[in-house]
Amino acid sequence: MPLSIQGRPDESTAIRVVHASLDAGVTLIDTADVYCLDHTDIGHNERLMAKALRTWSGERDRVVVATKGGLTRPNGAWERAGHPVQLRTACERSLRALGVDRIDLYQFHAPDPVVRFEESVGAFGQLQREGKIRWFGLSNARVAQIQSAQAILPVVTVQNRLNPFFREAMSEGVVGYCGEQGIGFLAYSPLGGGRLNKKLPSHPVVRALSTELRMTPHALVTAWVLAQGPTVLAIPGSRTVAHAVDAASAGNLVLSPEALAAIDVAEFSRA
Ligand SMILES: NC(=O)c1ccc[n+]([C@@H]2O[C@H](COP(=O)([O-])OP(=O)(O)OC[C@H]3O[C@@H](n4cnc5c(N)ncnc54)[C@H](OP(=O)(O)O)[C@@H]3O)[C@@H](O)[C@H]2O)c1
Repeated sequence: MPLSIQGRPDESTAIRVVHASLDAGVTLIDTADVYCLDHTDIGHNERLMAKALRTWSGERDRVVVATKGGLTRPNGAWERAGHPVQLRTACERSLRALGVDRIDLYQFHAPDPVVRFEESVGAFGQLQREGKIRWFGLSNARVAQIQSAQAILPVVTVQNRLNPFFREAMSEGVVGYCGEQGIGFLAYSPLGGGRLNKKLPSHPVVRALSTELRMTPHALVTAWVLAQGPTVLAIPGSRTVAHAVDAASAGNLVLSPEALAAIDVAEFSRA
């Protein structure tokens, strides 16, 4: 997302960041049609990821590309668009932007309050029957919505926010439910997002632990996120090669129960 929204780097830098991530062992790319500047730029990140994958020297089949439909960007705003006709149009546009016949993982970006949830989900079922998508996932969904969707088609992943500043995915039971059901939980904004991640290096507990364990504050927090459930994956964003490589390193970190507990009980102010 940060490679395509406001403040994005130039294309060659962005491609270097993606290549560095893949070289460091990343196997999942999370994108969306709406990772762009506005309605005139829809598909920017999908086209960028397609180009980065085409020009990468590694094993393409190792990489899963997850994209999303269900939002629009009128004049740069973020709006919901969960009508079946909008979802079909978005899916067909994403197939073209990604340059594929079938999307690996297609996620419903966010429930649309003016469209019956089951009607939106049914549209994804139809796209799956037509072979346009392999797996289906939800995003910004509650447990009851996951269960409603499961009655219509298999839900392979749920992508909700989870970081030390925002833990509602834990307290509202989504991470727990995904663990029980074997559904992948994609933790979005795992570092707190574009603003709050900057507070991590000066957080007293994060600073002390990262110094003691000789890892960066961001890698430490990513490892904490990954430890929150058996099916949790983290999808950190970055605009630099150094941050992308550091993020990938967190996949190999295992924190002790004491280190995890210290972050569990620490206060993370959003102010
Ligand atoms: N489904 C949804 O509704 C939804 C919503 C939001 C996000 N997402 C997904 O979640 C992904 C990540 O979310 P996000 O970008 O909002 O937040 P994030 O991953 O929590 O934070 C990203 C920021 O952290 C910085 N960073 C990363 N690694 C770092 C390191 N090692 N040292 C210092 N800084 C580091 C990056 O800085 P630099 O840019 O300077 O590298 C970047 O600006 C997005 O790319 C998107 O795929 C999904």
